Amino acid sequence: MDKFVIRGGNPLVGNIRISGAKNAALPAMAAAILTDEPVILENIPDVRDIQTERNLLVSMGAEVELGYGRASHRTTISCRNLVNPEAAYELVKTMRASTLVLGPLVARMGRAHVSLPGGCAIGARPIDLHIQGLEKLGATITQQHGYIEAAAERLRGGHIAFDKITVTGTEDLMMAAALAEGETVMENCAREPEVADLAALLNKMGAKIEGAGTSTIRIQGVDKLHGARHRIIPDRIEAGTFIIAAALTGGDLNVTNCEPKHLGALLEKLEECGVTVTTNGESVRITNGHRLKAADVSTEEYPGFPTDMQAQYMALATQAEGTSFITENIFENRFMHAHELVRMGASIKVEGSRAVVHGYTPLSGAAVQCSDLRASASLVIAALVAEGETILDRVYHIDRGYERIEEKLRGAGAQIKRIGEMLPKKAPAPVGVA
Ligand code: UD1
Repeated sequence: MDKFVIRGGNPLVGNIRISGAKNAALPAMAAAILTDEPVILENIPDVRDIQTERNLLVSMGAEVELGYGRASHRTTISCRNLVNPEAAYELVKTMRASTLVLGPLVARMGRAHVSLPGGCAIGARPIDLHIQGLEKLGATITQQHGYIEAAAERLRGGHIAFDKITVTGTEDLMMAAALAEGETVMENCAREPEVADLAALLNKMGAKIEGAGTSTIRIQGVDKLHGARHRIIPDRIEAGTFIIAAALTGGDLNVTNCEPKHLGALLEKLEECGVTVTTNGESVRITNGHRLKAADVSTEEYPGFPTDMQAQYMALATQAEGTSFITENIFENRFMHAHELVRMGASIKVEGSRAVVHGYTPLSGAAVQCSDLRASASLVIAALVAEGETILDRVYHIDRGYERIEEKLRGAGAQIKRIGEMLPKKAPAPVGVA
């Protein structure tokens, strides 16, 4: 297991280029199931979750070429010969987004056998809304031995009103409805840019979807979808992570190849904290030469402040003057990073769904553990301003969703190094007796 060693104190200066959005790439790859022609996706991030999704598709009989570097982060997926409409527990337990294949499999193959994901580090995270939606589209669903079995000869259009806003639920059912017979209207949908990006791909494949990116989506089902080429949108959470890191370290950083429009809630909040933000086309410049001011944050569905930025914002709040109230409204157990930040010297009290952060307190390097993807990012950021060395364990959580974060940070002046697990020193050879 790799670790990061980080020495704090350097401001982030220069440029960091943003990769494609993991959370847009994962549903886009699942969408390839809907057609027997190749789907070509560009700007695919080189992160572990993408490898997991490739393994999942390959286990079903898909051919997946995944090229980086000269192949410019491109994947070509052909689902011509799908033989096994199954997502096994071994894959689903490592990546919940594997359940995104549920809708496409029933729509294309008439059957899906998908493991229930179970709880995870940040909450219970059921998929009941995916299941209810598929039932509305005419699928028969049974549950046995931890798996969902969904079947339908042909899905038919229906009316789905989500009780709660769900991102992958909206995506899963939008894919299913694309091949259903007749019209589907979905209400109270997630409005995240990743949902709109998926609809753009599906429409290129011949789907008839209107309203993605708003809370009501209308889908006119078609009999068949065809291949397409699509470029994945930039990762707004990766961009936001570097933006917070720059603000925190008092740097001058240009975050390039991103979409500032997708970062509205975060950038407004940072301006409230006293950070200077300049947007220009596809880049955001962050400059900050003085102490940050505390500001409260409450996570919401898009376009509100993203839950996926809450942990990183908490690292920033530890260095802001005053008290910040941080309320987590999306997941019930998403404050694991708070305890590790306290070990580094932060003053944070967790009261149910609210964390109260008193700043400013100096941070000092410590041995800390990553618990989930975004919590890990917050610890990296905190380590960049901590006095001395921080050793971050279980870096595989970060590798799930950040493309070579250490190289990007090092390029902007941070002192960060990846080390492999230390092997025990070889026992010294016995000294021969003369
Ligand atoms: C997606 C993102 C994740 C982000 C989250 C919220 C991907 C691959 N992942 O996750 O990074 O943190 O959105 O922005 O895009 N819920 C139910 N029943 C369901 C589905 C969801 O009760 O059937 C609840 C969840 O437990 C949670 C809330 O709805 O409390 C929102 O979850 P959801 O939007 O579905 O998150 P994901 O799509 O899993």
